[in-house]
Parts: sequence; structure tokens; C-alpha cells
Amino acid sequence: MVHSSNKTLEKVYAARTDKDRREAYNDWAKNYDKDVTEFGIQLPYVGACVFAKHVDIGTGPILDAACGTGMHSLPLKMMGYGGFNGIDISDGMLAIAAERKIYENLQRMVLGKPLDFPDNYFPVTYAIGALAPGNAPPESLDEFIRVTKSGGLIIWSTHGHINERTQPFHDKRHALTRAGLWSIEFETEPFVSMPTGDSEIMHAVYVYRVS
Ligand SMILES: C[S@@+](CC[C@H](N)C(=O)[O-])C[C@H]1O[C@@H](n2cnc3c(N)ncnc32)[C@H](O)[C@@H]1O
Repeated sequence: MVHSSNKTLEKVYAARTDKDRREAYNDWAKNYDKDVTEFGIQLPYVGACVFAKHVDIGTGPILDAACGTGMHSLPLKMMGYGGFNGIDISDGMLAIAAERKIYENLQRMVLGKPLDFPDNYFPVTYAIGALAPGNAPPESLDEFIRVTKSGGLIIWSTHGHINERTQPFHDKRHALTRAGLWSIEFETEPFVSMPTGDSEIMHAVYVYRVS
């Protein structure tokens, strides 16, 4: 099954195992910023705007989950936010994030597995471009809720177009709401996130408040 007409994106969306994901992003890391810029990536701008609308400067520490190269957090750092803790499955992506000097800590961790952080720790968890087919799975949200403070925010994106691979992410967010673990505070409309990369792919950004 083909998930994207774009060969570069297809490699990451088709990943089935953590090893596949790590290798795909390690291989892509050096060209990631250049390629997604050519694809007209919108997520870093939209994510940073949503973040700035909901989070006061000085709030921290911030969990930046699947931080990649950090391109979505650079505008926030420039605005005066700090206390970023970046985690990612790919050493290659983390190495480029380190060069940007945004992060106080960078660690390799795998979303979908238990995270090495205490309960009720971060006032904000931020995960842009992370939860998607082939990337971090819907269960990542369980750990986000565990490590985010009660009353804190989880700002994250997933694909806004619905098909059999994207639906589980929406089923999970609604199940967590029904379970009373969080509530929606804000959501964007779905938008085409890489217009010159694959115009079929949409994303939406959500803000949930942890109960
Ligand atoms: C599309 S990039 C987005 C990076 C960054 N958040 C941004 O918006 O620029 C997805 C990132 O998720 C990471 N990733 C994918 N699956 C992961 C997983 N299960 N656990 C941790 N990181 C993962 C990749 O290594 C990659 O850096």
C-alpha cells in the first residue's frame, strides 16, 4: 500500500517498527530541513502560533516530544520561551537539534514506550509532526498525560484527513476525553501541511488540558 505519492515521505509513513523509524529519520536527518522547506511545510508556523496563544513565556520545563531538528521550536525560543527538553527516536535528528542550541536537554526516547520522566512533571507537552502513521503511535498520548501536570497543556498535531491509518489517532483522543483524562481547549481546522510535497496530507493542531 502506498501512503504518499512523495517518495521521501513514503519512506517514513511506511515505517512499521521503531527500527524502521529510527533508520528512516537517521537517513533523512541531514536533508530534513531542506526537504520539508521545499515541501512548503506549514506545521512549525502553525504549531508555534498555537503554542504562543496558549502558553505564557516563562512556563517550563517544556517537553518537546519527537523534537526532530527543532525547526518548530526555534520561533518559540526567539520569542523568549525556554526550558525545552527534547526527545526523539533518531540520533541523527537529535544531533541537528543540538546545533540549534534551543534545548536544555536532548535525549533519545521512543514515544509509545514508557518515558523516563516522573508523573505530573511538565506544565506543557508539545508534539508537532510526531503522532502520525509510521511515526509515534496513538498510545504516546497516555504517556503525555502521565508526565504532564494536572491542569497543564498538551499541544500536538496529527493528520487531519481521515482514513484507516489516521482514524486510530482520533479514536484515541476521543477515548481519552470520554475517560475524563483531558478536555479540548482549542483545535485548528485541518490544513494542507506540505502543499508542494503532498497536497493530500492534512494536519490539525490540538490543545488539550490535562484533568
Ligand atoms: C516529521 S518529524 C517532526 C519533527 C519536529 N517535531 C518538527 O515539527 O520539526 C517527526 C519526528 O518524529 C520522530 N519520531 C518518529 N517516531 C517516533 C517515535 N516513536 N518516538 C520518538 N520519536 C519519533 C522522528 O525521528 C522525527 O524527528
